[in-house]
Amino acid sequence: MAILVTGGAGYIGSHTVVELLAAGYEVVIADNFYNSSPKVLDRLKTITGVDVPFVECDVCDKDQVENLFSAHPEIDAVIHFAAYKAVGESVEKPLDYYENNIGGAMTILQAMKRHGVKNFVFSSSATVYGDPETVPCTEDSPANGATNPYGWTKVMQEQILRDLCVSDKKMNVAILRYFNPIGAHPSGLIGEDPNGIPNNLLPYIAQAAIGKYPAVRVFGTDYPTPDGTGVRDYIHVVDLAKGHVAAVKKLFTKCGLVTYNLGTGNGYSVLQVIKAYEKAIGRELEKNYLPRRAGDIAENYADPRKAREELGWTAQYTIDDMCAHSWNWQSNNPNGYKE
Ligand code: UD1
Repeated sequence: MAILVTGGAGYIGSHTVVELLAAGYEVVIADNFYNSSPKVLDRLKTITGVDVPFVECDVCDKDQVENLFSAHPEIDAVIHFAAYKAVGESVEKPLDYYENNIGGAMTILQAMKRHGVKNFVFSSSATVYGDPETVPCTEDSPANGATNPYGWTKVMQEQILRDLCVSDKKMNVAILRYFNPIGAHPSGLIGEDPNGIPNNLLPYIAQAAIGKYPAVRVFGTDYPTPDGTGVRDYIHVVDLAKGHVAAVKKLFTKCGLVTYNLGTGNGYSVLQVIKAYEKAIGRELEKNYLPRRAGDIAENYADPRKAREELGWTAQYTIDDMCAHSWNWQSNNPNGYKE
């Protein structure tokens, strides 16, 4: 019995591999290093002491995926992380996003069908709630549709999985809707390593803190929120990883299709996050107050009760932990996994 983790060298995937091993699962990693580094595999070995079986594989390549499943008949569940995830890029290259994200999932699901693998965890996103009418979002909040092609690939894949589970009563699928994953493993050995200028708030703050940028950017100060800046539900990536372990356990109870928010239930504003980061680094950061970023919403945070009640999972780390661990990773690896 083993869990295949596609995108297992990536940011969330690598942290999930650590927690799966800690929980006693056997793991096989598949990755093509499109947005990750082979160094992650060495770091995983240092953290866990385990040489995790690795297959270099593009999830869109049918032959490679077939070979992967044939070579590892022990696989009986898949956590599918491998996908493109840059919102702005998805607007520029929608066809690439639909082809890679939906195509990759189809290739994996077809191979699972051929090999009789019935358990699947899908990386979805709070982006499926669009601009929510009310917060916190519960799993039953209307999926208002996405605001960009990346988000639509998540909405569409959720629908595909629901259709699949109607047709095949033996399938068990956990759709996990992530809020805003940040932070890094407490060891400082693995963390987020975006290519180019970071789009997301935390990696940008982290890189400003090591001196790559003169100031942090605050996109919008006139939102209808307490301090005027955007509010999100930031969740420690290790807590998120543990949520995947809980979801895998749930699949093995033959649960059919289940959907969970993975968030803390707490909303923090951009300025509150910057303040927490300043606390972690022990000094103030320069701030550049800019207009709103196109497509951003004022506020979004999770109602995490369903995951607590049905998975027995709750996020443990605080925003201060998230910032301290992010800084530990960034300051020890100023260029991420690059030399
Ligand atoms: C974004 C994506 C979401 C995706 C998630 C992955 C959009 C519209 N949504 O969420 O689909 O699942 O990343 O983590 O891009 N901010 C700044 N300065 C910055 C960067 C961001 O003030 O340099 C603000 C934003 O305006 C927002 C908050 O910080 O209020 C969080 O932004 P970000 O980290 O990019 O995440 P989301 O936009 O919530």
